[in-house]
Amino acid sequence: MSDPYSNLGAQDTALQERIADAMEARCLEPAQIAIRKAYLGSLNLAHDAIALELGSGTGHVTKDLLDVAGAASAHGIEPSPVMVARSQTSFAADDRLSFSIGDAKNTGFEDETFDLVVMHTLLCHVPSPNDVLQEAFRLLKPGGVLAVCDGDYSTATAQIADFDPLDQLVRFMIDQNVTNLWIMRQISGMLSNVGFRLEARTGHGYVAESEAKYFLTVIERGADRMCEEAILFSETAEALKAEARRRVAADTFFGFMSYVSQVAVKP
Ligand SMILES: C[S@@+](CC[C@H](N)C(=O)[O-])C[C@H]1O[C@@H](n2cnc3c(N)ncnc32)[C@H](O)[C@@H]1O
Repeated sequence: MSDPYSNLGAQDTALQERIADAMEARCLEPAQIAIRKAYLGSLNLAHDAIALELGSGTGHVTKDLLDVAGAASAHGIEPSPVMVARSQTSFAADDRLSFSIGDAKNTGFEDETFDLVVMHTLLCHVPSPNDVLQEAFRLLKPGGVLAVCDGDYSTATAQIADFDPLDQLVRFMIDQNVTNLWIMRQISGMLSNVGFRLEARTGHGYVAESEAKYFLTVIERGADRMCEEAILFSETAEALKAEARRRVAADTFFGFMSYVSQVAVKP
């Protein structure tokens, strides 16, 4: 199965809803909010800045472009109708925010429309990330800022001891749901080639918090995929999911992944 996030609008509604639930849980975790604050909070935008999030999911990061980055208005582009409907419902009261269905490679906006473009865990899912970077370069005004943040997926783990079987679920989940594991190790060179000037590159360690709401979705989706692929019997998959929930209840669950952010400017 190819990464469903790379073509989410074409997936069945139940899968889009499941992924939207996972994204919502991730967005709301304080440790994830802290990562977004760390790289969006020091961009020094003008007070009338117009921002765009490409791959806006459930819209929480787009909202951060106002509250954390200080933009005056922000738009989110996202191919999944389920995600766009959720973001429009969640943020209906804020007329500085808007969302539409679209493709980050070909947004339809005019050249030099935006002061800030953000891609938060988008590029790892795009088979041709260079096309998205070129579109962002076209959309930014001269002096405009691009901020990219994504996981460094080979670091994802739930392992608490040698041969811990829960870690296999995390590894399988990543294998099945990420197109490019190495995107943040490649991004600086890609941005330079497109014409961006590189600014801050920062690493962010994410440790799942006590309830591990997002990391449990990773374990559960990994177990279910192993079941669909006939690697596990359903009873085994359910037992491993129960093991993860028991660890959370017993305060022995551990989940970790590094994220990396890279800020760049269009000269
Ligand atoms: C991991 S989610 C992140 C969503 C949001 N940025 C967040 O952090 O909550 C990745 C999102 O990128 C979207 N996506 C994938 N390919 C895309 C493309 N070509 N153009 C725009 N969005 C895309 C997916 O539909 C998905 O909602």
